[in-house]
Amino acid sequence: LIKLVISNQKGGVAKTTTALTLARFLADTGKRVLIIDTDPQGNLAMTVGVKFKHNLHDLIIEGVTIEDTAVRVYTREDGSGGLLDMVCSDRRTVETEATLMGRFGREFTLRNLLNSLDLPYDAVLFDVAPSITLLQTCAMIYAQRLLLPVAMDLLSLQGANASLETAKMLNGIFDTDIQGVAFMPVMVQKQLQMTKLVTANLTRLSEASRVPVLPGARMDVNVNKCVRTRQFLADFPAASRIYEDYQTAFTELMTRLEGAPVDERGHQATEAASVS
Ligand SMILES: Nc1ncnc2c1ncn2[C@@H]1O[C@H](COP(=O)(O)OP(=O)(O)OP(=O)(O)O)[C@@H](O)[C@H]1O
Ligand SMILES: [Mg+2]
Repeated sequence: LIKLVISNQKGGVAKTTTALTLARFLADTGKRVLIIDTDPQGNLAMTVGVKFKHNLHDLIIEGVTIEDTAVRVYTREDGSGGLLDMVCSDRRTVETEATLMGRFGREFTLRNLLNSLDLPYDAVLFDVAPSITLLQTCAMIYAQRLLLPVAMDLLSLQGANASLETAKMLNGIFDTDIQGVAFMPVMVQKQLQMTKLVTANLTRLSEASRVPVLPGARMDVNVNKCVRTRQFLADFPAASRIYEDYQTAFTELMTRLEGAPVDERGHQATEAASVS
């Protein structure tokens, strides 16, 4: 089972775009994918224009089953079995956090819940809010692996580092092994001085944290057009170039997740692979 939190504590750095595009990419490779939105902004459902009867609150607090909560948003029509289901969030997710606050062992809510189920999925991804909320902590403790999109500004770099610091802090408190799997540069404009500066700093952060950097995805106005028309990048011909960027990055990500040798402590030898 692939489990990933798409995390960066800064807002507007393409977390939702990256999470949704990765989910669709995995579904297109024949995987059964579940994507869970833990952000009360509820952008994930809005981005694909899906209607839902039950939300994350119903799943976590009200005991509604995963089958009744997850909405099918994509089915791969080639017999591979690839599909994408979504657990949606909305303002009610604020109430979820408030309810969980009073509970003992609250950080383990998602881990206990999802591990107790026989999930019919090959991958579980999380889109999270741009701040360290209890539900993001829950997602990190369940998934233990982070994909860190980094937009080409210095605050975004700090936001990605803050996610790694949070992981370290949680590992210090709980018996967890939360790690960054990769940084992914996004909104890249190669000709800009700022892109060069952030890329140089990201290389340093990558060396220090031993988290590799994936190939990046360019800045492209078609991303916004896709959101406006409620489409996946994969289905929008004008967005083919940025979708190719994402495909290249995700192909490398999959190699790292599935192919990298694992040492005796269960750590993937990600630092051995080349950093672009
Ligand atoms: N490569 C790109 N080129 C141009 N615009 C992009 C790109 N990626 C994302 N965007 C746009 O940037 C905005 C922020 O993206 P997105 O919602 O994915 O970020 P986020 O990190 O999830 O934000 P939040 O922190 O609010 O959850 C959106 O309007 C999105 O369409
Ligand atoms: Mg978002």
